Amino acid sequence: MDGQTRRHYLKAMGIPLWVPRAVETERIEEAEVSLTDVGAKSLDLSGTELEAPFDASAYAEYTQFQQKASLPDLSDFFKTEKTTPVLTPKTLVPLTAVPPDCTKMDWLSLEQSVSQCELCNLHKTRQRTVFGIGNQQASWMVIGEAPGAEEDRQGEPFVGRAGQLLNNMLAAIGLVREQIYIANILKCRPPNNRDPKPDEALLCRGYLERQIALVQPKLILVVGRIAAHNLLNTTQSLAKLRGQRHDLPHTQIPVVVTYHPAYLLRQPLDKRKAWQDLQFARQTLAR
Ligand code: URA
Repeated sequence: MDGQTRRHYLKAMGIPLWVPRAVETERIEEAEVSLTDVGAKSLDLSGTELEAPFDASAYAEYTQFQQKASLPDLSDFFKTEKTTPVLTPKTLVPLTAVPPDCTKMDWLSLEQSVSQCELCNLHKTRQRTVFGIGNQQASWMVIGEAPGAEEDRQGEPFVGRAGQLLNNMLAAIGLVREQIYIANILKCRPPNNRDPKPDEALLCRGYLERQIALVQPKLILVVGRIAAHNLLNTTQSLAKLRGQRHDLPHTQIPVVVTYHPAYLLRQPLDKRKAWQDLQFARQTLAR
């Protein structure tokens, strides 16, 4: 790619062309540690709260003592450190509902099934289901985490500010939104954009698997740590997941992982790395 084209693509993604390399590297490492190892919410953080597992036995002991001594309710105190819920084959999730068998559904019945879905509690707070959109014969499929506020209002994935950046990221490798198929791990918005819970992701998984089976993409681009963890059944950091070809479990569909556009809105210097990921994805597809 010649210099002028490269500059054009970088500009489309809003990548500063003049960032001193030393500063960039230092800050990127800092960001990766804070996002993965500390267990912070990765993306779309506005107004979200961290969820923490609850130490029920410690709290039970405390309440007995509390009643005798008229002490305040300290349930928050017994929350242990946050761990990210991740779907792995070993994760035992008590399912409260039985997902429908989507494996033979066509597009219409699949979309209908999603629009009527009440498998998890997210149906109680959603405005609209967000099924997925795009070219049903696409070579590229982009998979994100879950709808945000704007997606919940419009019923379409990636239509907010993060969606605008996603469009620019695609433009940076010569793709337009209409060429690809876009879907999320969850079809309903989690309240306050919190992370998907394991049971929510598991109950929703059949819908996404059927979408993938119907599209039969040549490559899946996963945006963000949470989506990558759920799709690939892993707990590895985003830093480790980037820059290599993964296979979608039980298939040979190549999966490439990159940053979530909402994260890039907050850390624009990492757009440069995202662009490298996109180049890598393009090369992977061409192989
Ligand atoms: N973030 C996502 O992961 N998906 C969307 O559809 C919007 C924001």
